[in-house]
Amino acid sequence: MEKFYITTPIYYPSANFHIGHCYTTIIADSIARYNKLIGKDVFFLTGTDEHGEKIQKKAEIEGISPKEYVDKIVENAKDLWKCLDIEYTKFIRTTDEYHEEAVKKIFNKLYNQGDIYKGEYEGLYCTPCESFWTETQLVDGKCPDCGRDVHIVKEESYFFRLSKYQDRILDYISNHPDFIQPESRKNEMINNFLKPGLEDVCVSRTTFNWGIPITFDPKHVVYVWIDALTNYITALGYMSEDDTNFKKYWPANLHLVGKEIVRFHTIIWPAILMALDLPLPEKIFGHGWLIIDGGKISKSLGNYKDPREYIDKFGSDSIRYFSLREVPFGNDGSFSVSSLISRINSDLANILGNLLNRTISMSKKYFNGLIINEKVYDKIDDDLINYAENLYKIVDNNMNNLHISDALESIFELLRKCNKYIDETTPWILAKNDENKGRLGTVLYNLLECLRISSILLSPFIPNTSRETFKQLNTKNISYDSCKKFGGLELGSYVGEPKPLFKRFELEEEK
Ligand code: MSP
Repeated sequence: MEKFYITTPIYYPSANFHIGHCYTTIIADSIARYNKLIGKDVFFLTGTDEHGEKIQKKAEIEGISPKEYVDKIVENAKDLWKCLDIEYTKFIRTTDEYHEEAVKKIFNKLYNQGDIYKGEYEGLYCTPCESFWTETQLVDGKCPDCGRDVHIVKEESYFFRLSKYQDRILDYISNHPDFIQPESRKNEMINNFLKPGLEDVCVSRTTFNWGIPITFDPKHVVYVWIDALTNYITALGYMSEDDTNFKKYWPANLHLVGKEIVRFHTIIWPAILMALDLPLPEKIFGHGWLIIDGGKISKSLGNYKDPREYIDKFGSDSIRYFSLREVPFGNDGSFSVSSLISRINSDLANILGNLLNRTISMSKKYFNGLIINEKVYDKIDDDLINYAENLYKIVDNNMNNLHISDALESIFELLRKCNKYIDETTPWILAKNDENKGRLGTVLYNLLECLRISSILLSPFIPNTSRETFKQLNTKNISYDSCKKFGGLELGSYVGEPKPLFKRFELEEEK
């Protein structure tokens, strides 16, 4: 069985996760579920990034230890993922003992082979981003990533010989055109960072102690990004007694990351892997941000809302669908309640929900719910059946290119065709004459079968909706293979009870 290893970034534990944080994880979950559906052996990793100065400071403010602080809020991430039906294989915490032990070994190995050396760091540091900067990299004197103040740090430090790997990384990128996606981010990395020349990076800190100590010089803790990036291999058991998963799943097929952390993933991470003599991940995809009112989402800007408020009100599948469909993957996109409501009403309630409801209701009304098909075909059926049978190929092509929004659009195209097919075949007129019963049965069968096929293909994206649709169709035939051939819906069984899949929301009421 072909393997597929996909990761999200590990999140800084926070009590204030917002809808933007959900974005990466919803997308990763949908890609993971899709790969499971098509028969791959999937490992989907997520987790929390718990060390660093930022966490230590927050814990100090609360008067508790950093570990107590992270223990208290890490459950918030797990709870949020549960509310969004995120089906991860493993949740790693960088405070997990196996991870800390492996990081110590990795650091020692790099030091012993000369890839890490001792020096002195003097420069600028952005604590919220845990990033080192040079004067020229600042924008208006502030951190170029988050726009906040930086401060001067001067301390004895260990350095990683990043400069040594510059040419190898450039070569690798040019020989593997898909390694960094989308193209625009690849060019940014090459032109802004790699070509001007890489400097060695500081990989230890001494001014705080909430981190993994360096075993041979314990007043130093490992720089949080080295600790964090290596989670992708320690989670699989790298440098531990049981590295079966590492052997099976590494290299990763896809690291999904937000655009502001592409630099760490496409420059520092490959260099570490090269130093460890390990293969590089197949693809790193840097996606855009969900923004509100043209800006970032944050509590201080007053546009923050706990995503659970939206999930409770609109449902997990609606939030998932919006995130996947609204924004072409890679670009920034705006989130607003009115655009969410428009999507729910137009796509989920009207196109999908209404179609299912009408079809099941007609089946109940005209055949007491019995699914029959005497194969009384008409030319008009050809386009619908052809499109439905070939839909999995269109979806697969889009998913291979991570065009998730287009994959969803192609499935909704089938549903739109079904709605048109109802208007053209007019089942309510066919029902008036007993002679047309055979044709009416075939028309309804075609619609029910299209709903079955589309729900199989929608199941990675909106899993609850697909489950409910299968229930209403009363079908057990939900395998991926069964959507490659039209006619998998079981004849002779009875459809379930019609129940609206989605509630329509009033825009005015929301405003
Ligand atoms: N801890 C680091 C990642 C280490 S990975 C080895 C980190 N954590 S984070 O909590 O700040 O961000 C986690 C992810 O959430 C990032 O990919 C980031 O881009 C994403 N997002 C945070 N706000 C976002 C939006 N408003 N929109 C989309 N994604 C956003 O970075």
